[in-house]
Amino acid sequence: MFRSGAILGLLLLLSSETFAAVPPDLARCGSAKLEAIAQACSDLLGIEARFRNRGNEGERERRREGVRRRVVAAWAEAESFAGDATCAERTARGPDAVDALAALAEEVLAEVTPPRCAARLGRLARRHCRRLVNVEALALVSAQKADEARTRVVAQARRRLSLRWPGQGCSPGAEPDDALRRVLTLAGGAAAQASPRGLRELGDAVGVPVGVSIEPFEVAADPDYLPTLRRETGSLTAENAMKWAPIHPAPGQWNFGPADAVMDLAEEEGMRVRGHALVWGALSVPAYVEAASGPEQLRAYLAEHITGVVDRYAGRIAQWDVVNEPLSAILDPPTSDGLDDNVFQRLLGTAYIAEAFHLARAADPTVRLFLNENGIAAPGPRQDLFYDLVVDLLVQGVPIDGIGFQGHVGLTPLAVYPDRATWEASLRRFADLGLDVEITELDVSVLFRFGSSRPPLRAQADDYRAAFGACLRVPRCRGVTTWGISDRYTWVRSFLGLPDDPLPFDDGWIPKPAYFAMRGSLYERLYTGP
Ligand code: XIL
Repeated sequence: MFRSGAILGLLLLLSSETFAAVPPDLARCGSAKLEAIAQACSDLLGIEARFRNRGNEGERERRREGVRRRVVAAWAEAESFAGDATCAERTARGPDAVDALAALAEEVLAEVTPPRCAARLGRLARRHCRRLVNVEALALVSAQKADEARTRVVAQARRRLSLRWPGQGCSPGAEPDDALRRVLTLAGGAAAQASPRGLRELGDAVGVPVGVSIEPFEVAADPDYLPTLRRETGSLTAENAMKWAPIHPAPGQWNFGPADAVMDLAEEEGMRVRGHALVWGALSVPAYVEAASGPEQLRAYLAEHITGVVDRYAGRIAQWDVVNEPLSAILDPPTSDGLDDNVFQRLLGTAYIAEAFHLARAADPTVRLFLNENGIAAPGPRQDLFYDLVVDLLVQGVPIDGIGFQGHVGLTPLAVYPDRATWEASLRRFADLGLDVEITELDVSVLFRFGSSRPPLRAQADDYRAAFGACLRVPRCRGVTTWGISDRYTWVRSFLGLPDDPLPFDDGWIPKPAYFAMRGSLYERLYTGP
C-alpha cells in the first residue's frame, strides 16, 4: 500500500509546511497515516460529489467501504514500522477518521446546490485535503504553526473559490470558505484524533485475547509493569508459579502463594488466566516425583497433584496446559520415539498424558484442557509426530480441548521463522481435528537471524505479524500469549543466558516495531473482519 515515494513526497510537503518541528518518528509513522487519511478525504469527497442525489446508496457505501479498507491496510503497515509510541498515541483510528470524513463530506457538499457546485467544491476540497491533513499533523507539535498554515491553505482555497464562485449559480448555505474551512478542518481533525487503543481493547474487540506470561514478583517490583499489562493484555499465564516443583514441592506440601497472586491480579483486572503447566516432564519435576518407586506411586503423585491444583482454581481458570512438551526438547539428543525421556514417560508410557487429562477433567468439568508443545509451528517430522500423538489420544477418548503452540520463534540455531501462511496451515491442521488452538508462548529471537536483508527489529515485527495474522484468520484460534512482554524480563536472558531482545517492549518499556505489528494485525482484523 505504501510507496516510499509517497511518504518522501509528504515529508517534503511537511517541510514546506514548516514541519521541521515534527519529531522524526512521528513524521515517519504519522505522515504515513496522515497520507492515508488525506487520500481518504479526497476519495470520499469524490464519492460524495459523484453519488450525491444519485440515490445509489448501495454503490456509495460500497465505495466508502473500499476507502475504509485502504486506510486500514495503510495504517496496519504504518503501525508496523512505527518506532515510537508517539505515532500510535497521536494519530487517529483510521476507520473512525474515515467515517467522520465521509459524514462531513456528505454534509458540506449537501449545502451546495446545484450539483455542479458540489462537484466544484468537492474537487477543490480534495485538492486541499492533503495539505490540511498535514497542517493538523503540525498541530500535534505546534498549535501556532498549525494556525498559520491553516490560514494560508484556506486563503489559497478561498482565492480559487472566489475567482470562480460568483456567477456559477451556486448558493451555498454558508459562505464558500466557511464550507471549505469545515471540510478541511475536519480532514485534519480526523487525522489528529488521538485514541491509542491498547492490545487489550483491540483483542477484546476481535474476540482474541492478547496474553502475557508473568512472574508476580516482577510485576510487583516494577511500577511500569502493571500499567502496561492493563493496557496491553487481557489474559495472564503464570510463567512458573503454577508448575509442579514450585507449587507442590513435596507430598502434601503446597505453596499456592505466587499462583494465588497471579489469580488475584487477573481477577482484580478482569483478565483471563491460562494455567501452566500441570505436568512437564522435562523440567519442574520435584525430586520426590523423580524418585517415584514405580508406576503406582507415580500415578498416586499425579492424582494428588492434579486434583489438588485444579480443584483449588476450578471455575476461575479458563484453560490448563495439562501436559507440556510431551516430545523430546528440540535441543535435547533425539530419543528413539521422539518422545521426551522423563519419569512419566519411562514409568507409564504415553498413558501418563491420558491419565493427566482425565484427572484434570474430573477435577474441573468446565476448564478447557490443552496439550502444549514447542517447535510445531512449521510442517515437518516433529509436527507430524505430534499430530499422530494427538490423534492417538483423541481416538482413545482423552478429553483434549485444545493445542498450545508455544511459538518460541527463531530461538535455536535451527532458526525457524514461520511466515503467516505456514502458521495458518499449522493452526488449521490441528483445529480441523475439532480442537481449539492458541499461540501460548510467543517470542521472536533476534539473535540467530542470519542472511536477512532487513534490520533485526523490522524482521522481528514481520514474524510477530505472521503469528498474529495467522491466529486472527483461524476461527478456532482463541488467543495469542507472548512469553513475557518486556525484554527486561525475558526467560531467554534469565534461563537460557542469551543476550536476546525477543519481546514487543524493550527494557525501558518502549514499544518496538513488533508491538505495532501486533496492533496493526488486530486493527486490520477489526476493520476487515476474519
Ligand atoms: C521457562 C520460564 O520462562 C523460566 O523462567 C523457567 O526458569 C524455565 O521455564 N516452554 C515452556 C515454559 O513451556 O514453561 C518455559 O518457561 C519456556 C519454554
